[in-house]
Amino acid sequence: MKDRHGREIDYLRISITDRCNLRCTYCMPEEGIEQQLRHEDLLSYEEILRLARCFAALGIRKIKLTGGEPLVRLGCCDLVRQLKALPGIEQVTITTNGVLLAEMAEDLIAAGIDGINVSLDTVEREIFAQITRRDYFDKVMAGLERVKALRFPNLKINCVPIVQFNGDQIVKLAQQAQDYPLAVRFIELMPIGLGSTYTAVSKEDIMKLLTDAFGPLQPYEEKLGNGPAEYYSLPGFQGKIGFIGAIHNKFCGQCNRVRLTSNGFLKLCLNQKKGMELLPLLRSGCDDSALQAAITDMILQKPLEHHFYDKEYAEDTDSRQMFQVGG
Ligand code: GTP
Ligand code: 5AD
Ligand code: SF4
Repeated sequence: MKDRHGREIDYLRISITDRCNLRCTYCMPEEGIEQQLRHEDLLSYEEILRLARCFAALGIRKIKLTGGEPLVRLGCCDLVRQLKALPGIEQVTITTNGVLLAEMAEDLIAAGIDGINVSLDTVEREIFAQITRRDYFDKVMAGLERVKALRFPNLKINCVPIVQFNGDQIVKLAQQAQDYPLAVRFIELMPIGLGSTYTAVSKEDIMKLLTDAFGPLQPYEEKLGNGPAEYYSLPGFQGKIGFIGAIHNKFCGQCNRVRLTSNGFLKLCLNQKKGMELLPLLRSGCDDSALQAAITDMILQKPLEHHFYDKEYAEDTDSRQMFQVGG
């Protein structure tokens, strides 16, 4: 369906848990989440499937599973299989921190997953432990190796370059795209929760580092995935380099997505709090047509753009943190 700004909304990001097995410094406090969601406040898989069916009837074609860390929720491969079987749903992809990927990759792929994005901010074990406060670097690398060994075609690495942590990791991370056709994407840090206390490495600095190391970046025009990244080729690379310039390359005009948090909040924009609690309605005994009408109404009100760093819009800013929304 279209929102009132004429944007086709065909992509739904579903956060299936707010829990995570890492504690990335720019995302979660050391001690973890203060108020973890209670089990009964979480959408059950049946409820997620019912909502996904309603969204599909309204034109959602692509679903991205996120978290927290989605692979920590038991049974998530079955969920992938069931979402894939819904009429109208063309693609189900996942964004994971990779910690459980080595053991789950085969099941995920067998369930029909169409894309796997792995968050990785460094290729060095010590830096990984500093950023994530966990010594799981080897697990994540084993996860990536497993997916590659299975020759899975749609693999991406997400890195958030931050001056305080991993500014010196850019070239080494890009190298991951040299010998395997995967995309390494550099995501601009957004001032969400703890993210607002650190400094993003600029795209210009990243481009310069890559050009100095590998030669000129050539814009790559073909579509890769369903997100806002823009891609480049590098000489001799099998894979691609991507940039998600959330702040300096605002892509809101082309936004195709809405989000569902793990407790059933329909979130219309990553930055703004506008949206609707679907859980009460879902559990009120209403039928699917009432749910669809409420969702349609809400999507029509999707904000035009984000206002990160704009004090005038401070009141519209959502206080949910990244691990509650899933990026
Ligand atoms: P694919 O390329 O199809 O996998 O989609 P994607 O890039 O949207 O997926 P992914 O989950 O890897 O998203 C990467 C990151 O991009 C997210 O974690 C966010 O940080 C950022 N991002 C995704 N969507 C939006 C958006 O609508 N607005 C903003 N500002 N950032 C977004
Ligand atoms: N800004 C941009 N990206 C972020 N992520 C987590 N917090 C932020 C932030 N403040 C990234 C993670 C992961 C994806 C789900 O979102 O590193 O790649
Ligand atoms: Fe977990 Fe992702 Fe947050 Fe890291 S960024 S703590 S992996 S939810």
